[in-house]
Amino acid sequence: MDRRTGLPVVGMVGGGQLARMTQQAAIPLGLTLRVLSARPDDGAALVTPQTVLGEHTSYEDLAGFAAPCDVVTFDHEHVPTALVEKLAADGHTVYPSAAALIHAQDKLVMRERLAALGLPVPRWAPAADAAAVAAFGTEVGWPLVAKAARGGYDGKGVWVLDTAADADDLLAHGVPLLLEEKVPLRRELSALVARSPFGQVGAWPVVETVQRGGICVEVLAPARGLAAAGAEAQELAITLADRLGVVGVLAVELFETHTGRLLVNELAMRPHNSGHWTIEGSRTSQFEQHLRAVLDYPLGVTAMTAPAVVMANVLGGEPGGPSLDERLHHLFAADPAIRVHLYGKQVRPGRKIAHVTALGDDLDAVRERAARAARHLRDGHS
Ligand SMILES: Nc1ncnc2c1ncn2[C@@H]1O[C@H](COP(=O)(O)OP(=O)(O)O)[C@@H](O)[C@H]1O
Ligand SMILES: [Mg+2]
Repeated sequence: MDRRTGLPVVGMVGGGQLARMTQQAAIPLGLTLRVLSARPDDGAALVTPQTVLGEHTSYEDLAGFAAPCDVVTFDHEHVPTALVEKLAADGHTVYPSAAALIHAQDKLVMRERLAALGLPVPRWAPAADAAAVAAFGTEVGWPLVAKAARGGYDGKGVWVLDTAADADDLLAHGVPLLLEEKVPLRRELSALVARSPFGQVGAWPVVETVQRGGICVEVLAPARGLAAAGAEAQELAITLADRLGVVGVLAVELFETHTGRLLVNELAMRPHNSGHWTIEGSRTSQFEQHLRAVLDYPLGVTAMTAPAVVMANVLGGEPGGPSLDERLHHLFAADPAIRVHLYGKQVRPGRKIAHVTALGDDLDAVRERAARAARHLRDGHS
């Protein structure tokens, strides 16, 4: 607790844009956010006075960081499970707990648990060796999807295999692999909820996530024409949050198949890219809700603030062209209602450097505005 204000100190391991936007949400709540950041120029380190430089793989760094915190949470899932367990064993309050977090860290563990809970998932198998890959391909048909069980993000760690031989290199590296049928996707959805230790759960409307090259480029809120499937997806996310004992935000990435079935792809237990739209598009943003949840405060209202909200990620473009400052200037002139969130990163081609959000009545019009704004910031023209 901060002695001056009497308000809690929340520690977030990881200093990326999620922690940066969490700091933004912590300010009006009077909270102190404390960030463990690898580099002084990480997005959150730049805006958070209580930044501790250190490694999330070092227990010494984690424990020193956690000492003055009322609760410790995460902006990524890369803290080794044993260290999360040790923090809790040493008396720190850690949310989500190691037992819950493992399902967002290890895709094999997640698949096993979801299958045991009887929840809908793609057909899958662990890839123990070349024979297992060949057998699974024969069973479900080629191509297959192979995934690193741990450590992947933004499509790094996901491979499409056309033949069993495509797995040779991956197997040679000895990384534990998960195999999945290649699901015929109509689209991808995300069901975002938050759960508190008390057991309160708040769910946002289910959204559509548009991916390109393994990276989420656009989020449409609410997802179009969902009807009963929307309630089904929310129920699924709430069930998962309860059964896994998640505290904080839980994002359930879903596949909608061509026949309209919903399958769980993967889980994230932290604010998620598919929830950035909530900053302006919901009465309570995912960042504030995550803070409320880990502090066991009652959760905020999740109603939308407009009928249609679209978030577009801004990826770094090729060098050259107008400065970012000039791009912003022109963008604001063209669309005074557009909302921009820059992450304070150095621009590199393909790197997520910002997102934009547009709100309105008509989804197609809102989507066009968000896409144009994102193109403008990336390329210097739209
Ligand atoms: N079994 C699958 N069938 C079809 N597409 C898939 C499958 N698994 C993953 N993908 C595609 O790859 C993307 C990234 O996979 P995901 O498991 O979510 O990894 P990451 O951890 O990189 O987000 C998904 O959003 C989806 O577009
Ligand atoms: Mg994913």
